[in-house]
Amino acid sequence: MVDVILGLQWGDEGKGKIVDFFAPKYDVVARFQGGPNAGHTLYVEGKKTVLHQIPSGIFHQHTINIIGNGVVLDPVTFKRECDVVSSFGIDVRKNLFISERTNIIIPTHRALDKASEMQKGEGKIGSTLKGIGPAYMDKTGRNALRAGDLLNKHFITQYIKLRLKHQKLLDNFHFIEDISAWEEEFFEAVEFLRSFNIVNGEYFINNKIAEGKKVLAEGAQGSMLDIDFGTFPFVTSSNTISAGVCTGLGVSPKQINEVLGVTKAYCTRVGGGPFPTELENETGEELRKIGNEFGATTGRPRRCGWIDLVALKYACMINGVTQVVMTKADVLDKFEELNVCTAYNINGTETKQVPFQLNNAMVNPTYQSFKGWHTDTTILQQAAALPQNMTEYINFINKYIGAPVKYVSNGPGREQIIPL
Ligand code: GDP
Ligand code: IMO
Ligand code: MG
Repeated sequence: MVDVILGLQWGDEGKGKIVDFFAPKYDVVARFQGGPNAGHTLYVEGKKTVLHQIPSGIFHQHTINIIGNGVVLDPVTFKRECDVVSSFGIDVRKNLFISERTNIIIPTHRALDKASEMQKGEGKIGSTLKGIGPAYMDKTGRNALRAGDLLNKHFITQYIKLRLKHQKLLDNFHFIEDISAWEEEFFEAVEFLRSFNIVNGEYFINNKIAEGKKVLAEGAQGSMLDIDFGTFPFVTSSNTISAGVCTGLGVSPKQINEVLGVTKAYCTRVGGGPFPTELENETGEELRKIGNEFGATTGRPRRCGWIDLVALKYACMINGVTQVVMTKADVLDKFEELNVCTAYNINGTETKQVPFQLNNAMVNPTYQSFKGWHTDTTILQQAAALPQNMTEYINFINKYIGAPVKYVSNGPGREQIIPL
């Protein structure tokens, strides 16, 4: 049986904290897509830690963690992350497994990401520059190197072949940066990666399921960044939605049980692309300040705005969400008035559907307004203690999206979560 935790917005919903909270109930935590573009923040022994590729179950002694075939893995960031995790006294090799089908990000993928963004200029995606797009292009283009290849004696030949191919593309982009230092650290990191348990991921997970073990699949990014259903082309290059669990781990759809969708009580986005409820004013600034909305991977300020129920309902639909977790509700504690977007007005026509093209200039959100709760919710522990105005806000969202909010997260700490 597999449960899923994934983001319902444009990423950074607080998935890391939520996975870390639920991990003790599971035997296995698995990442099924994305790569070092992700930044999942958790607090371990009161210390802030950001995971990029390692599943957020790693800090729990009895939890097995696996990086699935749907992930694109950068050995360099992986090694750095392992050093951080080890500094907490965790034996990373013991509980961390990597699928042999996991695709490898090589230095020229990062160079190509940078070159492509530079060429796009104003129209750039605002990618994390971690090489995600080029790495997935090599996967679908059937050129990629995979973790299993690291164990093969022909690895270096395969690497050189791919690197030469990339060089031609980089020459076309007139990319002239010297990346030899990147290559040096890459080969060091490859050596390190070789010392890990590289396994047949699909048998590994299915055997666990057959033994009755509980698996938690941890999503990266968010549904509105999905390659198929997000705000294309301002998306990432993988399927971030629940369907990605099957292809990213090799499990059957029949095994998927609960789908927990994580949403902030408001909305953020980092990078380019449409964001209908964005607040480019003092209120947006206030959300950024109180919510400490700066990218966990790139440090970029996140764009902030009101919760968008049109997009949220859409995300619940394509994911088959069974439970919603609302994070960062405490960030709204001091606001006088809150707005929730209930429809888009596009060229004079109102719609409750996400259109084919979500172009910011054309979309005018319809808002329903709510009174703020003026209560410090960070110290609350029970649903009964939640302020009435917050309960009304949540009830409205429940009804609109047709999926129940089952947990409210009221602070970044592990224990700051209230079941409803
Ligand atoms: P992820 O990518 O979905 O794991 O989210 P990030 O880690 O990128 O960003 C979420 C940020 O919000 C992190 O700094 C978390 O520590 C923080 N956070 C998570 N849940 C809460 C919450 O309920 N309240 C507050 N104030 N912060 C939270
Ligand atoms: P987590 O898992 C927020 C965004 C980038 C950019 C677009 C494409 O922490 O929620 P990419 O590097 O994937 O080619 O960038 O997607 N993006 C994220 N935004 N959270 C993330 O991950 C993201 N991963 C990618 O900012 O707009
Ligand atoms: Mg993040």
